[in-house]
Amino acid sequence: MSKTCAVILAAGEGKRMKSKYSKVLSKVLLKPMINWVAEAVKSSGTEDICIITGHSGEMVREHMGDSYNFAQQEQRLGTGHAVMQAAEFIKNSKADNVLVLNGDAPLIDKATITDSLKHHENTNSAVTLVSAHINRPQGYGRIVRDSKGGVLKIVEQRDATEEQCLIKEVNSGVYWFNSKQLLYALEQLTPENDQGEYYLTDTLEIIMGVGGKASAYITDNNSVVLGANDRVQLNELNEIARKNILKRLLLSGVDIPCMDGVLISDNVKIGIGTTILPNTIIRGKCKIGENCEFGPNCLIEDSDIEDGVKLCNVHIEQSLIKNGTDIGPFAHIRPNCKIGENVHIGNYVEVKNSNIGDGTKIPHLTYVGDSDIGKGVNFGCGSLTVNYDGKTKSRTTVEDHAFIGCNTNLVAPVTVGEYAFTAAGSTITDDVPAYALSIARSKQTNKEDWVRIKKPYKGME
Ligand code: UD1
Ligand code: CA
Repeated sequence: MSKTCAVILAAGEGKRMKSKYSKVLSKVLLKPMINWVAEAVKSSGTEDICIITGHSGEMVREHMGDSYNFAQQEQRLGTGHAVMQAAEFIKNSKADNVLVLNGDAPLIDKATITDSLKHHENTNSAVTLVSAHINRPQGYGRIVRDSKGGVLKIVEQRDATEEQCLIKEVNSGVYWFNSKQLLYALEQLTPENDQGEYYLTDTLEIIMGVGGKASAYITDNNSVVLGANDRVQLNELNEIARKNILKRLLLSGVDIPCMDGVLISDNVKIGIGTTILPNTIIRGKCKIGENCEFGPNCLIEDSDIEDGVKLCNVHIEQSLIKNGTDIGPFAHIRPNCKIGENVHIGNYVEVKNSNIGDGTKIPHLTYVGDSDIGKGVNFGCGSLTVNYDGKTKSRTTVEDHAFIGCNTNLVAPVTVGEYAFTAAGSTITDDVPAYALSIARSKQTNKEDWVRIKKPYKGME
C-alpha cells in the first residue's frame, strides 16, 4: 500500500453557527465535528494528520492534543490557501498520496475514505474527489463533466452558470491527491473567482493541464457530503448520526422500542438483550453489559455497567455498577463509586466516592458519601453519612451485614462493625463494635396529662 497522510481544513470561523468558538468544535451527537472527521481518518489507517487551524486555533489545538500536527492559517483566503499552509507537512511526511477533507462535514466514514483511495490508485489518478448525487445541491461545488463523462472541473455555486447550477453531482470536499502534483498545483493557484479566494477545487484543472488525471469516486452514502454551516444543519446531522448509531445497536441485538430522546455516543458498547427506554442518554466512555434495562430518563456518563442492571430515572457518573444491581427511581450515583452485585439503591438516594458491597440495600432517602460499605448491609430510610465538617472530608466504614436504623447520622470518620445495629434516630460519633447495638439519642420521657394541664390548643375544654 502507498504511504498516506491527511490534511483537515478547520480554520473556518462559522459565523452562521453564531458561536464564539471555531465552527469545527460544534458538536454532532455530543462530539465536536473535528473529532468525527479525525477519527474517520485514523480508522481508515492514515495516522499522519495535519489540522489547519485559524479562528480560535489555540482552542482547537488544545482540544485535539499532540497526536496531530497543526498549521495555522493566519488569514482565511480560501480552501486552497488553507492547504498551502500544510505544504511543509506534506513534504516532510513523504506520503505518496494526501487525503484532504473539510472539518465541517462530520459524517465521512472509513469505507468512503478507503474505497476512494482504492479507486484513486486503480485509476492511476493524480486527484480523485469524492462526489455524490443529491437532490438539493444548493451551496455545494458542482462537478462538471465532458461529453464522455470525464471530470472537467468543479464550479462553486456562486461562480456557476444557470445550466451548471442544475447539476446534482456535488463535491464532498474529500479528495485524494498525488502529493507531488498537489504541491505543484498549490503553487500555481490564483484567486480569480467571485470571492477572490484561493480555491482548492481549482487544483483539478491545473493538474489536468500538465497531464495528470482527475477522477471522481461517486459515493452512494450521501450523508458524507453533508456539512453544517448553521445550527439547523447541525441538528439535521445530529439526527442522522443519532439514528445511525441506534440502528447499528438494534442490529447488534439491543432493544430500543422507542427512539424518542435516546442519545447514545458512537463509541458506547452495549451487550445483547439490553433494553433502552425513552429519554436515556449514554455518553462518554461507557461499556454496558447484556440484559440490562435503562430508562426511562437516565443519564449515564463515563461508566462501566455489567449485566442485568436495571436503572430508572437515574444519573450515573464515572462509576462501576456490577451484575444484577437495580437503581432508582430518582437516584444519583456521583463520580468514583463501585457498586457491587445485586445491590438495591432506591428512591432519592445519592452515593458519592464510595464502595458498596454485594447485596447491600439502600432503599430510600439516603446520602452515602466517601464510604466503604460492606456486603449485605441495610440502610434504613433517611440514614446518612456526615462526611464533611466544613473543612475536611472523612470516610465512613460500615462492615458486612450491619443494620443502619432509620434516620441514623454516621459522623465520619467512624466505623460500624459487622452485624452491628444502630438504633433509629441515632447520631453515631464513635465506632460501633461488631455485633453491638448502638443507641445514640436521648431517652424518651412521657409527661402524663401534660396536654390537659397546659391546654395548648385554642378552645380546648
Ligand atoms: C467547499 C468546496 C465545495 C464543496 C464543499 C463541500 C471549495 C472552494 N469549495 O465549499 O466545492 O462542495 O466545500 O462541503 O473548496 N477553510 C479553511 N480556510 C479557509 C477556508 C475554508 O480552513 O480559508 C475550511 C473551513 O473551515 C471548512 C472547509 O475549509 O472546514 C470548507 O470551507 P467552506 O468555506 O465551508 O467551503 P464551502 O463553501 O462549503
Ligand atoms: Ca462548508
